[in-house]
Amino acid sequence: MANIIIFIVISSLSIACIPSGYARKQGPVDNEKAWFQNICQGNEKVAKLQFYVQDVLSGENTTVYEIARASITSNSPTAFGQVRVLDDLLTAEPDINSEVVGRVQGLITSADLETSALAINLNFVFTSGQYSGSTISILGRNQIMNKERELPVVGGTGVFRFARGYAITSTHSYNVETSYGILEYTIYVTYVDDSSMRLQANM
Ligand SMILES: *[C@@H]1O[C@H](CO)[C@@H](O)[C@H](O)[C@H]1NC(C)=O
Repeated sequence: MANIIIFIVISSLSIACIPSGYARKQGPVDNEKAWFQNICQGNEKVAKLQFYVQDVLSGENTTVYEIARASITSNSPTAFGQVRVLDDLLTAEPDINSEVVGRVQGLITSADLETSALAINLNFVFTSGQYSGSTISILGRNQIMNKERELPVVGGTGVFRFARGYAITSTHSYNVETSYGILEYTIYVTYVDDSSMRLQANM
């Protein structure tokens, strides 16, 4: 179990439910039906997830790679136009050897001519505990020199279907010599409170 992933019910939200004739024609799967009824009954809650991202920018275990740059990138103070792909380890604690929570995969683009800011597209893939097999997608602007950055949660899968919310991220530490950063993430995200779905996600 990922102990550091805190699961706190903050509040119930309601969601408008429109019956779908098209979905019925597809032949409902029992689990899908139960899940849909749950979200229709307003069993939507907010969870808080907290973990660390191991961002290895150089060396033998590098997890971030440049895939493209623009003609301006090398001379730009903000590396404008640089596009990188990453597959970073998620851990429960700052220590890279602490419990593995999952991976974060996606694209980061330097997209601000004057300030260091990234346009990001990240998929968080959870591989332990009650969220195993579920994903959360984050998209937005990350002004990396700010102490705390707020990013929008735009969706998810599994436990996090219909997810919305936001993430607060900060740099826990950064080693300039080894280009190795540890980022802290706290995600506030909606989920449907359905224990049977959560058990299924564990399988
Ligand atoms: C790379 O990963 C291996 C396996 O986890 C580890 O033994 C090694 O120390 C790592 N290298 C660096 C430079 O961190």
